[in-house]
Amino acid sequence: MKVRIWDLPTRVFHWCTALCFVALVVSGEIAGSAMMWHFRLGYALLTLVMFRIFWGLFGGYWSRFSSFVTGPGAIVRYIRNPSGFGAIVGHNPLGSLSVLALLLFLLLQIVTGLMSDDEVFTSGPLVGKVPAIWVQKATFFHTQVGKVVLILLAVLHVSAIAWYRFKKNENLVSAMVSGDKEVVHEAVGSRDDLISRAIAALLLTFCGLAVAGLLWWAQAPS
Ligand code: HEM
Ligand code: HEM
Repeated sequence: MKVRIWDLPTRVFHWCTALCFVALVVSGEIAGSAMMWHFRLGYALLTLVMFRIFWGLFGGYWSRFSSFVTGPGAIVRYIRNPSGFGAIVGHNPLGSLSVLALLLFLLLQIVTGLMSDDEVFTSGPLVGKVPAIWVQKATFFHTQVGKVVLILLAVLHVSAIAWYRFKKNENLVSAMVSGDKEVVHEAVGSRDDLISRAIAALLLTFCGLAVAGLLWWAQAPS
């Protein structure tokens, strides 16, 4: 039978995040006039990641952190014997680790971007608000560490999805597109109705306003 796994807000979050990420890497590497778009996309991604953190608390069952965050024990057991976990409906323990790593490094990359300064043309909006040593360390992380880690994590992520598709004959992408998975045994479905979508829209608006508030504060004279 078909079960709703990824609610619409999670799917919109996912594909918008993937697009923003690729565009951020490209605009960051082009630099120059592309930096205007680098910043805009960075603010959009900050809104999305903030939203996903709230959605991890209030979202559909399989999007909630409580349904997929596991301890190291479960991850080791899964690596040793994946079939011992039976048919997995949401993120598997290893997948959940990669999801958390992606979210954490996206957030770190965004926060350090806000404080980065190329000392020539471009400086993040918080550069004037934080001590110079933070700007130096944040710029180093943003340009030398975070971008490399994130590109590696994204390549690993897409390779894992391809491995499931071609080696295990499991199409994970279709569930991230349609929201549904075919399951043999009965499984809990994620709530995905008009009300939950309206709550998601309100949360997303709130996150967008919080980002706008941060930028307004950053521009105010200190
Ligand atoms: C063509 C490229 C991509 C494909 C086909 C893809 C596909 C998927 C799929 C199928 C899942 C669900 C995995 C599961 O069933 O456990 C997923 C989850 C996820 N992906 Fe991607 N992905 C892509 C690119 C990206 C990129 C570039 C990022 C960010 C840098 C990203 C971040 C995430 C995150 C954070 C999740 C967890 C979703 C959630 O629970 O909210 N993905 N992806
Ligand atoms: C996940 C989100 C982000 C990614 C993947 C990303 C990626 C990049 C990349 C690839 C570069 C070029 C690095 C280099 O020259 O080697 C860069 C530079 C830069 N980014 Fe980001 N960025 C992100 C978010 C942000 C945000 C939110 C801001 C600020 C609003 C920002 C501000 C900057 C600045 C000021 C530079 C120039 C730093 C320099 O060349 O010294 N970035 N970013």
